[in-house]
Amino acid sequence: MKKTAIFYGSTTGNTETIAKELAEMLDADLFDVSTNPADKLGLYQNLVFGTSTWGIGDLQDDWEGFVDELKAADLQGKTVAIFGTGDADSYADSFVDGIGIIYKAIENKGCKVVGFTEADDYSFDESQAFIDGHFVGLPLDEDNESQKTELRLSNWVKALKVEMQ
Ligand SMILES: Cc1cc2nc3c(=O)[nH]c(=O)nc-3n(C[C@H](O)[C@H](O)[C@H](O)COP(=O)(O)O)c2cc1C
Repeated sequence: MKKTAIFYGSTTGNTETIAKELAEMLDADLFDVSTNPADKLGLYQNLVFGTSTWGIGDLQDDWEGFVDELKAADLQGKTVAIFGTGDADSYADSFVDGIGIIYKAIENKGCKVVGFTEADDYSFDESQAFIDGHFVGLPLDEDNESQKTELRLSNWVKALKVEMQ
């Protein structure tokens, strides 16, 4: 039984590709939230949530329903990290808002949220994921900066491995 699971929602495959890569890097099980894997949340000590952002600052469609499952779930004592894909050029005012929406849903649920990211390496105007001077997860931009994704992922995984038991 693995200790870590990744739950992702993806419309055109970008978040899915990254989720698969992360599953290898973290030795984690992988669940697409479109299959409503709410019953799996309790089985793992470490939970990683991945979403893209659609509309203007909306959660990815499959996450729209699953975020209510998160709000209802017992996440007490768990370690949680969030990653998100977005487009900082076309959506500079709602860059990776989905990360922030998931964060808001779980921040008071007794879990430890890890994997915050400094914003220095990103160019954006506004983001619901930018809280108290940093991103509350890992933003990735496959539309404009896919060449940066490998390094961003490996740095993030290094940090997660320290925090996740
Ligand atoms: C119609 C549309 C709306 C989008 N809205 C946002 C947005 O508000 N913020 C953002 O950061 N990215 C936005 N994006 C970019 C997507 O989040 C990005 O392409 C992402 O990689 C898609 O991932 P997916 O294939 O896993 O769904 C939008 C893209 C489209 C086509």
